[in-house]
Amino acid sequence: MKTIEYTSYGAPEVLHLTERPKPVAGDNEILVKINATAVNYGDLAARNFKAISPAQFNMPLLFWLIAKFTFGLQKPSNPVLGSEFSGLVESVGKNVTQFKPGDAVFGYFGQNMGAYAQYVCVPQDGCVTRKPANLSDAEAACASYGAVMAINLLQKAAIQPGQKVLIIGASGSIGAAAVQLARFAGASVSGVCGAQRLEYVKSLGAEKVFDYAREDFSQDGAAYDLIFDVLGKTSFAQVKKSLKPGGLYLLASFKLKQLLLMLRSSFGMKPRVMCAIAPGSREDLIAVRDLIEAGVLKSPVDKQFPMQQAAEAHRYAESGLKQGNIVINIGG
Ligand SMILES: NC(=O)c1ccc[n+]([C@@H]2O[C@H](COP(=O)([O-])OP(=O)(O)OC[C@H]3O[C@@H](n4cnc5c(N)ncnc54)[C@H](OP(=O)(O)O)[C@@H]3O)[C@@H](O)[C@H]2O)c1
Repeated sequence: MKTIEYTSYGAPEVLHLTERPKPVAGDNEILVKINATAVNYGDLAARNFKAISPAQFNMPLLFWLIAKFTFGLQKPSNPVLGSEFSGLVESVGKNVTQFKPGDAVFGYFGQNMGAYAQYVCVPQDGCVTRKPANLSDAEAACASYGAVMAINLLQKAAIQPGQKVLIIGASGSIGAAAVQLARFAGASVSGVCGAQRLEYVKSLGAEKVFDYAREDFSQDGAAYDLIFDVLGKTSFAQVKKSLKPGGLYLLASFKLKQLLLMLRSSFGMKPRVMCAIAPGSREDLIAVRDLIEAGVLKSPVDKQFPMQQAAEAHRYAESGLKQGNIVINIGG
């Protein structure tokens, strides 16, 4: 089978096509023939991990060390990137009861990766389920990661109808899903993103969108019930001015400083601070699938690239031009 591999860290050019033996499903696994995969934050970070210092990493030092060992110290330990996929079940292991050959599926691997390949084995109880009936392969390939993270993280905020929510990083994988989910929960939603994507975030349902390079949302005078910072780019001092007294500052990326703030808020400090990790579970993926089929969540695809142009796909994802998701077509 063909795979897109990288054997050293670096610029998009490190990605190249290689041949590998086709895998065989274990007893509890399904063999998926992949139709499409995505280029997301994790793929770009893993490809370039040698250049990411602990200070540049959006998580505490311990997480950086874990990622360093997971991705490989000097060179990548798993040469096949790709955490999201859509495809068809080709065969199943002898203990598999939940899938059968021919099933259209989509899913998310987390940091394990491996979806930049024509075939992949997935545990039947992994983060994989039936593909949304109303999505193309390309749309389904980029529908899992951001939405699975967002649905889990936003559950912790228990958004109520009528609340005001600000999503910082609203044009990214997690933020774009969060905007749509918060709207569905009945909130009025504002977003923060780059200048090129203000209209894109509005098209997802945000009423007001701030350009982080030119505008400071905290000068706007609005008071929010929830500020969800995906990349952890804000300071508590900035956010505090814009949160209602009972409001919540939710962070998907955080450092020790924010963890200490969370500790203080567990002793009554207001507004509350929560640093949260989403597990990437199958239950959340099924909930995402149902919301996609109900028309609540969209999975906008900006550009699609063939397998041979994986480096080009990564270059475009890093260009600052993208409006939505980048897909690599593996099948066909
Ligand atoms: N807690 C968890 O369980 C969990 C799970 C997965 C990932 N994460 C974390 O989530 C982050 C990746 O999120 P993602 O996949 O959604 O990333 P993404 O798709 O790359 O999107 C990043 C978003 O942040 C915006 N942004 C960039 N610089 C900014 C700044 N200075 N101020 C405000 N916004 C800025 C981007 O805006 P433009 O593109 O418009 O410029 C974009 O909207 C990483 O830090 C990762 O560690 C956390």
